[in-house]
Parts: sequence; C-alpha cells; structure tokens
Amino acid sequence: MTKPATQAATQDIHQEKILILDFGSQYTQLIARRVREVGVYCEIHPVDFPIEAARRLSPNGIILSGGPESVIRDETLRAPDYVFELSVPVLGICYGMQTMAMQLGGKVEGSEEQEFGYARVELSNNGRLLDGLQDDQQDDRRFLDVWMSHGDKVVELPAGFKQLARTDNCEFAAMSDDSRALYGVQFHPEVNHTLQGEAILSRFLKDICDCSALWTPANIVDDIVREVRAKVGSDRVILGLSGGVDSSVVAALLSRAIGDQLTCVFVNNGLLRLNEPEQVVQMLGRDSDNIFRLNIVTVDAESRFLEKLKGVSDPEEKRKIIGNTFIDVFDEESTRLEGVKYLAQGTIYPDVIESAVAKGGKAHVIKSHHNVGGLPEHMKLDLIEPLRELFKDEVRKIGMELGLSHEIVYRHPFPGPGLGVRILGEVTREYADLLRKADSIYMEELRRADLYDKVSQAFAVFLPVKSVGVVGDARRYEYVIVLRAVETIDFMTARWAHLPYDFLEIVSSRIINEISGVSRVTYDISSKPPATIEWE
Ligand code: XMP
Repeated sequence: MTKPATQAATQDIHQEKILILDFGSQYTQLIARRVREVGVYCEIHPVDFPIEAARRLSPNGIILSGGPESVIRDETLRAPDYVFELSVPVLGICYGMQTMAMQLGGKVEGSEEQEFGYARVELSNNGRLLDGLQDDQQDDRRFLDVWMSHGDKVVELPAGFKQLARTDNCEFAAMSDDSRALYGVQFHPEVNHTLQGEAILSRFLKDICDCSALWTPANIVDDIVREVRAKVGSDRVILGLSGGVDSSVVAALLSRAIGDQLTCVFVNNGLLRLNEPEQVVQMLGRDSDNIFRLNIVTVDAESRFLEKLKGVSDPEEKRKIIGNTFIDVFDEESTRLEGVKYLAQGTIYPDVIESAVAKGGKAHVIKSHHNVGGLPEHMKLDLIEPLRELFKDEVRKIGMELGLSHEIVYRHPFPGPGLGVRILGEVTREYADLLRKADSIYMEELRRADLYDKVSQAFAVFLPVKSVGVVGDARRYEYVIVLRAVETIDFMTARWAHLPYDFLEIVSSRIINEISGVSRVTYDISSKPPATIEWE
C-alpha cells in the first residue's frame, strides 16, 4: 500500500543537521537522541573528525559533548580549530564548555567541590540561550533545576563571553558570546533531570542554529521509502525476519516501498519462544488482517540447529554455531528464490557508532553478537540498511507510524541466539521446551499485572541443575528456572527490576505447578555491571 506523498516528503530531511563531536561522555548518544527529538538530524563523530569531512557535512551547528577526562591535563582532547572558524553556532556541554573556554583564552581550574547530581543554577538574564527559561523565581532571582557532573570548572571567561548562570561553587555554570554564537553549559541539558533541558536544546537548535523540525517519523518514513525505491528499482529483496522490533520495522518499511518485491525468510532455529513462528506469520503474514501481508517463507530448521549444538556447552561456541547455522540455512533458502539482488538488514545507528569505535580498537568484546552480517561471499547480495541512521526509540516511532501493532513495536529485545544463551551449558530439546513454557507463563503474568511495559527486558533462564522439591506427598528432583527482569535505558548498564513479591509468588507457583520438570524458581538480583543481562 503506498501512502500519498505529503508536502514534507519533497523536503530533504538531511538538509539541516548538527555535528556532535564526541569527547567520550557516557551521555553523547543521549545528546543525539534529544537533538532528534527536537526534530533535527544529527551525526556523532569522534573529536578528530577531519575538517574536509566537516565541510562536506556542512552542519548548521556543532555540539561538543562532555567527556571523562580533565581539560587541565595537557594530553587530553581538544576541539579541532575549525569548530570555532566555520562560523556556525557551537554549544559546549560540560567538558565541551571547558575546552571551548580554554581554547579561546579563558581559564579552567580543578575544583575542591565536585558537583554531582541535582543543582540549582541562578540565571543572569544575559543572552539568547537561556533567556526567559526558568523553573523557579524568588523576588527577581530566577533559577533552573539542572543535572551536574563535574570536577573542573571555568574560572575566567574568554574575551567576548558573558556569564549566563552561576551556582554557589561555580561562577560560570553557563556562558555565551551571542555575537559569535558560541555557548557553553556546565550542566547536562540532555539528561531528563535538567527540567528545561529540551527547551534549552530547542532554543539552540531552532532559534540559534535556525533549524526547523524536519526530522519527524512521517518524514523519515517518506524519505526511506523514496530512497529504497530509487535504489531497488524492480529487483527483489530478501530479509531475515525474526519478529523482533528492528526486522519487523524493516519489513514494514520495505513492504510500503516495494510491496511484493520483498520476501521475508523466517528461520525456526528451535530456540524461539513458545508459538513464536506461528505468531509472526499470524501477525505479519499473507493471511493476516494487517496492512502488510508480507510474503514470509518459514524454514523449520529446529533439528538441524539442535543437532549442531549437541555436546557443546561453551557460550561463545554456542553463539558461533547458531550464527553460522543461521547463515547456512539463510543462504540455502535464498538460492531457491529467483532474482534476489538485495539483502535487507535491521542495523541501527548505535551499531554503526559502536562498530566504528570497535574498528578504532577501543572496544572490548564481552559477547559476540550476531546478525546476518557475515553472509558468504558467493551470495553477492547488496545491502539495504534502512534503519542505519536511527536510534531504537526512533525505530519504534516509525514502527507505530507505519501501523505495526504496539505489541510488536514495544516487545522486549530478544537476542539472536535466542534461548540458546538462556539454557546454561548444553542445549537440548527437553530443556528448550521446559524453558519455553516457563518463559511463556512469566510473560503472560507480566502482561496481566501490567508490568511488561514497565521493565526494559524480562525473561526466564534454564539451569541444568536439579534440586529437591515436594508436591503432595511425592518428592521431586527437578530443574531450576531463574526469572530475570531489568530496567535500563541503553542496555549497557542495567538495574534489576524490583518486581513485587506478590507477583513473583504467582509466577513461581504457576511455573512449579504447571511444569512437571521444574521444582524451584529463583529471581536474579544482579545488576549490570558486574553481571550482564543475559546469563551467557
Ligand atoms: P548483555 O547480556 O550483553 O545484553 O548484557 C545486552 C543486550 O543485548 C542482548 N544480547 C544479544 N543480542 N545477540 C543479540 O542479538 C546476542 O548474542 C546477544 N547477547 C545479548 C541482550 O538480550 C540484551 O538486550
């Protein structure tokens, strides 16, 4: 089904953009997400982003992120000179403000008093960035509630700058030179705790950088659809559909763009959740009553995967086997389809950023994550990655825009190797069946108690350990199921979810009563770090 082109569809949504130079802050991706939320496209690049590339990008403004180091030390990162010479507005955040101040002739000192967490800054009514914004007023003094996290501070402004805000122990909590459109804030506008954070970013992006809000879900969909049509022409595209958010959104986008030229391949690897293959076909397939009616080829490869996994208990080896077997199955299936020229993938922007970091050698591989990236050479398929520029929350928004159900769009993440990394040690069909049942009870109860959407990810884990129990008069000697639920924003760190005891009691007794192979249920109270979210 094609959507009539809207007026916005003729606009180039990349026409206005912000360059974010990353000094290594844990909040850099958050800055980018907030900029996108205001409706402006942005790209994150390392601080050594070359001048030619910056000129090509031609940003409407530049944001210097925070960073973990101290600008006082000589060998730490500095903004490239062109940042202050391109004649575009610049906003420095935390470390970004400090390095701006220092590079332009101001002075930064280490502070006795470090500020972490909430702070109240008093505004000086001095310039475009913060004028008219306030959370609180006492007499004629105006205040903002902000989130601070710093040790060093600017103690002398560079020539031409004015103070915009102060706290008791930080005289220059924000600064600006309106004539050159240079701004610095010591606090973090990207963090939700800074109540006016969005208003501050919006002020910078819309009023100062003169950007309009072109980056909206509807415009993004129109843009991707147009690009895909132009690239694919009348050729055929194949997509590995898992039923997860990313591949479902890719499927929906491609279906809108090229209709029947898309074939989805759904591989049942025997490590999926209860009734998953049927559900995916039911929700998205030819005979469903949704608008997509995707052409889905399902491949039942359960025995093949389980056979390969026999006797293997090392987590990384299991991941490799599952990934490679997937590639073999997918390859065989695609050769059965005539004239396929493109392979679509659900790569998203954080994957792109992370693989760039990994290439720079800074990343530490804790677990090897799989997608279909490693397809064999002979397949000679060109890649289509329609989500390459999007963050997960944007993928979800365009999923809803396309008409996918809330259930698909807000599903918890499910790892590529599936239950393979939730059955500790060797994987067998018996274990997978027990785990599927336990997981399904857990999910059903989470939804019933209205807790599913309140946690970021929840699942059951199977421990191949037997423990003694008693049911009626009979002694049972059966396996252990672990329940896990976490709250997280970025899945890099996570807190175990404090699910109510009453709820856990219901799930535990249902699992033990309804599944004869389980005699004990436990709840995982480990956070990440030091634990990871999955058990393997
Ligand atoms: P960890 O266990 O590393 O998980 O804390 C972080 C997030 O990544 C998911 N995960 C995977 N996803 N293939 C995937 O596609 C994998 O091998 C894999 N391992 C972990 C995990 O579910 C969580 O959301």
